[in-house]
Amino acid sequence: MDKLLLRGNGPLRGELRVSGAKNAALPCLAATLLAREPVVLRNIPHLRDITTTLELLSSVGARILVDEQLGIQVDPCPVHSLVAPYDLVRTMRASILVLGPLLARHGAAEVSLPGGCAIGSRPVNVHLSGLEALGAEISLEGGFVKAKAARLRGARIVMEMVSVTGTENLLMAATLAEGKTIIENAAREPEVVDLARCLVAMGARITGAGTSVIEIDGVDALHGAEHHVLPDRIETGTYLVATAMTGGDVMLRRTSATFLESVILKLREAGSEILEDGDGLRIRMKRRPVGVDIRTAPYPAFPTDMQAQFMAMNCIAEGSAMVTETIFENRFMHVSELQRLGAHISIDGKTAIIRGIPRLRGAPVMATDLRASASLVLAGLVAEGETLIDRIYHLDRGYEVIEEKLGALGADIQRVRTSRSVA
Ligand code: EPU
Repeated sequence: MDKLLLRGNGPLRGELRVSGAKNAALPCLAATLLAREPVVLRNIPHLRDITTTLELLSSVGARILVDEQLGIQVDPCPVHSLVAPYDLVRTMRASILVLGPLLARHGAAEVSLPGGCAIGSRPVNVHLSGLEALGAEISLEGGFVKAKAARLRGARIVMEMVSVTGTENLLMAATLAEGKTIIENAAREPEVVDLARCLVAMGARITGAGTSVIEIDGVDALHGAEHHVLPDRIETGTYLVATAMTGGDVMLRRTSATFLESVILKLREAGSEILEDGDGLRIRMKRRPVGVDIRTAPYPAFPTDMQAQFMAMNCIAEGSAMVTETIFENRFMHVSELQRLGAHISIDGKTAIIRGIPRLRGAPVMATDLRASASLVLAGLVAEGETLIDRIYHLDRGYEVIEEKLGALGADIQRVRTSRSVA
């Protein structure tokens, strides 16, 4: 199993290119199942979750082609199976995103129920009750969600809680429903807006994406289209924090500050200078970061997917800070690993209190989920000596060639393919 070996070695400097957003690419890939013609998606990141989704699309019969500019073309015409099997779903919860499209386009779907995961129990009740409101008959059998409906009917859906993939599933399903659907208390994440843009390019009639009320006028069919996925705001944020922690100076290309306001605000509060520059963002940090309090909440508030990275920064910051996680009940798994590096953190319910220290010390640590893994990489960049991170398959799900990108900025980081111990 691959591991990452890091040796803290000073400021990151240089330029890197931000990849397309994983959490927008996943629903856009699922959305291709709604069309009657091939859909081409560009700026799709090369990640394990994307490969899993492509396997899932192939397993139901879709034909996948990669064109000369690395665009991914999905031809949904040969789809012959309406089942998303457990073997694929258990490796990636976002597989639930094929439920709405398969049901809306083919009248039935069976998707293995995703289990809990490292960050929380993560139920899908709002996906299911929303589909029921659209007229689907839903049952749970043998670990599968089975859904059917000759044709979905538009409805007013008030989502019980703000759910990103829940909103996306209902948005996709409603595009082919008969009549108007109104989704209230919808997620406002930029990835929902990107999916809506992709669906509109395919012929869907959607207004309000990016607000908490989305209106969809159902159409009879969706056609082929080409869509360019937006930049990954969480990858951008992760490299911004990496630069701030190492006191570096980095230009991030092909990204923007537009969807990162809450993160940039906190990075400035921590002492970094961030400027929009052409097609990207430049960050400079000339001092030790100052500890910053954060509280996660749905967009546009501070994203839960940046919580672990800010925790790592607070570990080496001046002063103390409070980090409150309100989205997932178990998203502090990185705390005990950061403590192995010497961090001073105590947890009280949903809040972690961090007392910054000048330096972490390298040690072997274990990645537990995607963003927890990122926080360990950031900590390893500034820790004295060697940090060996085990179970980095989590990182490969969401960060494209992270060791190459950080290596190009001067970090001492390498992938180790066999197990070895740290002296
Ligand atoms: N929830 C329910 N019932 C539901 C759906 C959600 O109780 O039916 C709860 C969840 O348990 C959680 C909260 O609602 O407490 C919000 O979860 P949400 O449904 O918004 O999360 P998600 O759609 O499963 C997406 C991202 C996550 C990101 C969250 C929150 C994708 C593929 N995943 O998950 O990304 O953390 O939104 O912003 O878009 C990651 O990239 O590392 C990641 C975990």
